[in-house]
Amino acid sequence: MAIATLTELGPREFLGQLDVMLDIYANAMDADLAALPGRRELMRRHAAYPSFRALHARTEPAGPVVGFAYGFHGQGGQWWYDAVWSALAETAGRRQARRWLADCLEVAEVHVRKWHQREGIGTTMLMSLTSGRSELTAVLSTPDRDSTARRLYRRMGFRDLVTGYSFPGGSPPYAVMGAALPLCDAVDRARSDRASPSIW
Ligand SMILES: CC(C)(COP(=O)(O)OP(=O)(O)OC[C@H]1O[C@@H](n2cnc3c(N)ncnc32)[C@H](O)[C@@H]1OP(=O)(O)O)[C@@H](O)C(=O)NCCC(=O)NCCS
Repeated sequence: MAIATLTELGPREFLGQLDVMLDIYANAMDADLAALPGRRELMRRHAAYPSFRALHARTEPAGPVVGFAYGFHGQGGQWWYDAVWSALAETAGRRQARRWLADCLEVAEVHVRKWHQREGIGTTMLMSLTSGRSELTAVLSTPDRDSTARRLYRRMGFRDLVTGYSFPGGSPPYAVMGAALPLCDAVDRARSDRASPSIW
């Protein structure tokens, strides 16, 4: 597994590097260029959210950025958080919504340039992004299909909380996934759940 060099960015540095990250995002996601201004605006807004943490990954200390990840503390009033709270409350009940979302890290983006995928960089970034956080859980959404991202999240202890979910305004189906923090505990828990299934 290649060892990525990670750099942590504060909100100001993050805003100064938006072009670099949008370029990686477009490459990793095969994104429509017309969607990038909207993505830029979203990332700009995210940088102001509480306990924001962003990482850049390089394969060599002075090399180009090949991947990035960021997240922040989820709370009411954030579009994604409010949508997911409603979906989880509706499908699993308010108690489960509180359990997963009352004190959560939202993992907003994890992307690695195609050329450098499958080198362990995504795993390293996700582990680092979530480590040392004060929150009880980490939550995220990803297209509801088998994918590298879905397998990565599962391997790190994330489980499906809601599946086949269309965000307000209409979107392809997403899975909302959650894990207890720290992720190494979540991995252990997921292993024991597979031995004897239970809802956390
Ligand atoms: C999802 C994503 C961030 C994962 O990053 P990554 O750096 O490729 O992740 P990793 O290398 O840690 O793991 C990916 C796979 O490579 C494998 N791998 C890791 N290191 C490896 C190595 N040295 N040799 C061979 N395989 C390796 C892992 O086992 C894993 O295999 P799997 O897909 O069969 O489960 C990246 O693939 C990506 O940017 N995808 C497109 C954008 C995207 O979907 N982002 C997430 C949106 S929710």
